[in-house]
Order: sequence, then C-alpha cells, then structure tokens
Amino acid sequence: MKITKVLSYQVLDSRGKPTVAAAISLADGSTHTARVPSGASTGKHEALELRDGNQSISNRFYSGNSVNLAVANINSKIAPLLIGKEIDLVSVDQQLKELDPSETHEILGANATLATSLAAAIASAHEKKVSLARYFQPTGKLLIPMPMVNILSGGAHANRTLDIQDILIIPNGAESFTEALSWIVAVREMAAKLGKESGKATHLVADEGGLGIPFDSIELACAFVLESIEKVGLRVGTDISLALDIASTQFFDGSRYNLTTINKSYSSSEFVNYTNILVNNFPIISIEDPFAEDDWEAWSAFVQAAPKTLQILGDDLLTTNAHRLERAIKDQSANSILIKANQNGLVTSTHQVLQQAQSAKFNTVVSARSGETEDSWLADLATGWRAGQIKVGSTHGAERNAKWNRLLELEATEDCEFKNPFLN
Ligand code: PGA
Ligand code: ZN
Repeated sequence: MKITKVLSYQVLDSRGKPTVAAAISLADGSTHTARVPSGASTGKHEALELRDGNQSISNRFYSGNSVNLAVANINSKIAPLLIGKEIDLVSVDQQLKELDPSETHEILGANATLATSLAAAIASAHEKKVSLARYFQPTGKLLIPMPMVNILSGGAHANRTLDIQDILIIPNGAESFTEALSWIVAVREMAAKLGKESGKATHLVADEGGLGIPFDSIELACAFVLESIEKVGLRVGTDISLALDIASTQFFDGSRYNLTTINKSYSSSEFVNYTNILVNNFPIISIEDPFAEDDWEAWSAFVQAAPKTLQILGDDLLTTNAHRLERAIKDQSANSILIKANQNGLVTSTHQVLQQAQSAKFNTVVSARSGETEDSWLADLATGWRAGQIKVGSTHGAERNAKWNRLLELEATEDCEFKNPFLN
C-alpha cells in the first residue's frame, strides 16, 4: 500500500516541552501518528535531539526548546522521499539512513528520524492488519514484559529530594502482568500514605509519577519502600524486589561521586565498594547506571565484585548504541541494557541493538523517557521484541498509564506469555 502523505507538527510532552509528531497517511485513507519522548537526565552519547535554540521565533515562549527545525526536516526533506513509495518500515529506515548517515542523526535530528520511523512501523502493522506487537513477532507467543516501576524519585526528576534518581520495584513473583500491576498500585498507594503520615511528604509527584519524599540516606529510602511492600501483605524478594536507578552521571564531577543531599563524596573505587555493600544489604535485583557514563573501569570492577545474580543495567553508559554495547560485552562492563528508541533514532536499529544484547545473554529493558507522550507504541515494541522487561515510570500520569493500559490490552487480546526474567 502506497504512502500518500507525510506530515509533521509540533506537540507537547508530559512536561509541557515541545516534541515532534509525525503522521503517515496511506492509500486506504488511514493515518498513523507517532510522537517522540524526551529525556532530562540524558547521556552525552545519545543521538541528537534537534531543538531550535535561538533559531526560532517561538524560542521566546518555549525557552529555545521548540522543535520547528526537526518538524521542517520531516516536511521538506523526508516527506518528498517517502510519498508514493510502498509502506515498509525497513525501507523507510533505510531511506532515513541514506538521507542522514551520521551515527547521531545530527543532520535531520533523531527526533525527526524516530517520529518518522515509528509512524512507519505503525503504518506497516496496519497494512499487514496486525497489532504493532504482532508486526514485530509474526508467529509464536508474544512476551509481555516484567515491569520495573518507580516508587520514590529524586535526582533530575524530583528536585533532588534524593541524590539517586529512582527507587523502583519489580513484581518478580507475579503470575501475570495484570497481577503485577495490581501489586504495584497497592505498594505505591501505601508508600504515599506512609509518606503523608510521616509528615515528610512534599506532595511532589516526580516527572515519571514517582513520589518525591525526602530521606536522609539511600538506605532509609530503601527501607521505606520495603515497609510499603510488607504493609500491603506482599513478600519482599518472593513477590516484589527492589531496583535502583542511580543515574550517577548526574552527580559525578569527573573524579568524584558527590552525594550532596547527604553530604558525602566518594572516589570511583570507594563508590564501587559503597554500591556493593548497598546491593548486598537490600533485596535489590537490578541497579541502573551505578557509575558515570564514561567511568568504564568502575563498571567493570563492580561487575567482578557484585553478586552474580544482580542485573547491572547500562542506560547513560550504553545509550542504545551498538558500539558502546559491543565494548560493554567485550569488557564485561554490565550485563543488561536499557533500550530507549530516542537514544538511537530509528526503530530498526534500536531493535538491532536489542538483538545484539540478547545474543550476548544481556537482559534487555525497554524504557520510556521522563518526558513522555500519550502514545503507547513502547508497550508493543517491548512485547513484540520479547524484551523481557519494561520501565515506564510509575502508575501515575496518563502518559505512563497509556503504556500500562496497552500492556493490559495486549495480555487480554493477544497470544502472550509473562515470565520472571530473574530466574535464569
Ligand atoms: P530520562 O530518565 O528520560 O530523564 O533520561 C530516565 C532514566 O534515566 O532511565
Ligand atoms: Zn536511567
């Protein structure tokens, strides 16, 4: 089926920041739209997010964050190439790569390439008359991912109420996604109630829907989440375990890790030791970005020292980039990867990075960004790619719940399975 129209325009994300929407229309009169997310604690090695800076009149109101240049790249450079061609994600991505061969998509902007690529994926699924998840996995069972969900947030997402970015939970003992989500909601509500009762709650809901409650240490914050799990009658470890997103690049100054809210500073090797003690003292099964994005030595030292069952997850370290992942596999700097499509810029090459990780026996966690939209394609990508895990933020905010609700829909309507990825 032929592409009849490609149209891009600027929309807002969940933080009220401009982002790119792309709509692809097909010969049957249907239109397929995708919107791209945007990070706040972004890694320096991510694909380029093209924003107007002082190059646009709308800079005056959007503080330089408008995306008119990226929108114009779709409308004036990409659209003429695609109109009249058969819809097919692989060939659309190929044409985008030819138009912008740079690894970071700096010519067109990764927000322009990803919006187009996602719209092409959604349109391709429509043409095949299947769901987007099914499009990526035409036969066999789809795998609904295990969620990893924010309870407490700090860092760049919650005005630094904690130095680390998130304390999350993984319902590793749940039998279905539906059950997993009900446990998560119960724990989040209990945490909100306990926070209020303690008089500490700032009533701050963080960018990803987690609770921004201040604590005097990471350990006290972890203990608070454990108490919330126990108070709803779930078993720590058996039913629900902890995960951390340290996002340590945010507090690394090039030589030291400075935890300013608790007034402590660590060298790289001291921080490796501290982190190892932390993961041994709490039922933590996953830790993301424990070290800064270019502190490769600390990562490798930690992989050697940490419990072998611990998921050591690279986000800012790996930025969904094939070369950085290759290095991490070779040097054993991590054992799992966060997959964010907008760090990469194209759907097919994001999928390739995920497959490269799976071939190296890395766990894969498909992830949203802190600036999200109402789109739910992420749920389909994670399920169709059999990623095994997903991270979307909390169960608060329509842009987060759009993804959870889509997973509930997939579980109800498609031939799916749900597995605990921490049993291997
Ligand atoms: P970001 O945060 O989207 O602001 O980069 C999410 C994360 O660090 O996982
Ligand atoms: Zn992260």
